[in-house]
Parts: sequence; structure tokens; C-alpha cells
Amino acid sequence: MALATSLDAPLPAERTHIFLLSLRAAADQASLPPTDMERAEAEASAPHLREGFLARRRLLRRAVGLRLGASPGDVLIARDAQGAPRVTSAREPIFVSLAARGELVAIALSDRPVGVDVEPIEATAAPAWNILHPGERDWLRAQRAEEQAEKFLALWCIKEAYLKAIGLGLRREPAKIAVNFFDGADRISVEDAGRVVALDSAFVTRTEAHGVPAVVACVVLVR
Ligand SMILES: CC(C)(COP(=O)(O)OP(=O)(O)OC[C@H]1O[C@@H](n2cnc3c(N)ncnc32)[C@H](O)[C@@H]1OP(=O)(O)O)[C@@H](O)C(=O)NCCC(=O)NCCS
Repeated sequence: MALATSLDAPLPAERTHIFLLSLRAAADQASLPPTDMERAEAEASAPHLREGFLARRRLLRRAVGLRLGASPGDVLIARDAQGAPRVTSAREPIFVSLAARGELVAIALSDRPVGVDVEPIEATAAPAWNILHPGERDWLRAQRAEEQAEKFLALWCIKEAYLKAIGLGLRREPAKIAVNFFDGADRISVEDAGRVVALDSAFVTRTEAHGVPAVVACVVLVR
């Protein structure tokens, strides 16, 4: 799974595409007017959240349009009953996931259920041990002290990506989900309530995009 940092280049033929985009790049509202559904959701949300929401939707519709060879103006995004974004305008199956932190917007697209998360790396952040599974706590305690904060972010990003891929988010208790790394961090497994989850793929990386160092993770389920 490669990470694209713009919506300008053609996409390689892959099952799953991940984008790490700049929110500022989507500032120009006139370039892609909101759909009626987006306008209604923006109007129903707090004023300080509107602009960010509409900018994220512009990026999401452009990314979906790029993958499907469709005009972003024809892409319709709704939400399911749990709040997960769903493409309602495509004939072929396409799953989408989105995460935003400050300037960064991560988007993942796949033909299988997908989840994505992004967390900026902040020097002062300490691990939130309480959201970790006991096995993850043991693993993290065994890591070098100076690497723990970033390794915590990797665990958390994968966990949140998984929670989005199953469409429930934090309705599930995060400490019941265990992320395991094998072969360094090359192979990842997820256990949910003690059962190994069948994953199509899982990916986590440290990157710097649009001037922000960040950890990005993506999880694709086997349907
Ligand atoms: C999904 C969730 C974990 C995202 O958390 P977050 O750290 O605040 O925000 P992120 O930037 O990482 O992700 C936000 C995106 O998650 C997506 N999302 C929301 N609910 C989702 C769900 N049930 N499944 C998958 N994705 C979901 C949306 O695309 C949202 O972006 P959008 O509003 O622009 O469409 C969280 O919103 C959640 O758990 N929602 C469902 C349950 C809920 O609403 N609980 C109340 C708070 S505990």
C-alpha cells in the first residue's frame, strides 16, 4: 500500500489507496460545491466545525472520483447508521475511510472494508496506557523509553483504523482489541475479544507530509 500526498497523479492499480492530504488544499469551496446532504450536515453542526467538514468532503469526493474515473461532482457520500462514510453513487463496491488531525487529512479507499487513522507526532505526548490491551502494555513497556511514545501512536493508529474498518469506532472498548507486531513491524495482526481477525492487509508508517511528522495506519478486512 503506497501513500499518496496529492490528488494530482494517476493512481497505480491497487486494491487499496491511501492519501495523506493537506486540508488547506481543499480550502476553495467554489471548486467543488457541497451536495445537498453535505450542506444539510454542515448546517446542523457547530459553526466552527462546518468549514473543516466541507473541506474534508471535497477531498474525499475528489479521491473517490480519481479512483473511479468519475467527476467529483457526481460522487455522493452519505453516512450509515453508525456514522461511517459510505459512497452511494458508485456501481462497483467501494469502501472509504477518513481521519483528520489539524492540517492533515488521511483517506483510504478499497474494494473491501477499510479503516484509516493519522496522528501527528508530538514530542511531549505520553502513551495513554488505559486504552491498550494488557498484551500491548507488556509489549510497549519492553520498548526503549525514548521510542515508547511513537510506538504507542503506531498501536493506537492501527487500533482506530480497525475500529473504523468494522464501522463501529469507539462504540467498542479499545482495550479489548490487541494489535501485535511480528518481524519488527513488517507483519501486523489484530485480535478482537481474543479472536484473530482475518485481515486482507494492515499498514502503519511514520511519515512527514505537508510539513507535519505523523503516523498513518490503514487496515483492510477480508469480507
Ligand atoms: C470513528 C471515531 C473513532 C473517529 O474518531 P476521531 O478521532 O474523533 O476522528 P477521526 O478524524 O479519526 O475520524 C473522523 C472520521 O471517522 C469517520 N467515522 C465516523 N463514525 C464512524 C464509524 N462508526 N465507523 C467508521 N468511520 C467512522 C468519519 O468519516 C469521520 O470523518 P467525517 O466526519 O469528516 O466524515 C469516532 O468518531 C467514533 O467512535 N464514532 C462512532 C461512535 C460515536 O459517535 N461515539 C461517540 C463518541 S465515543
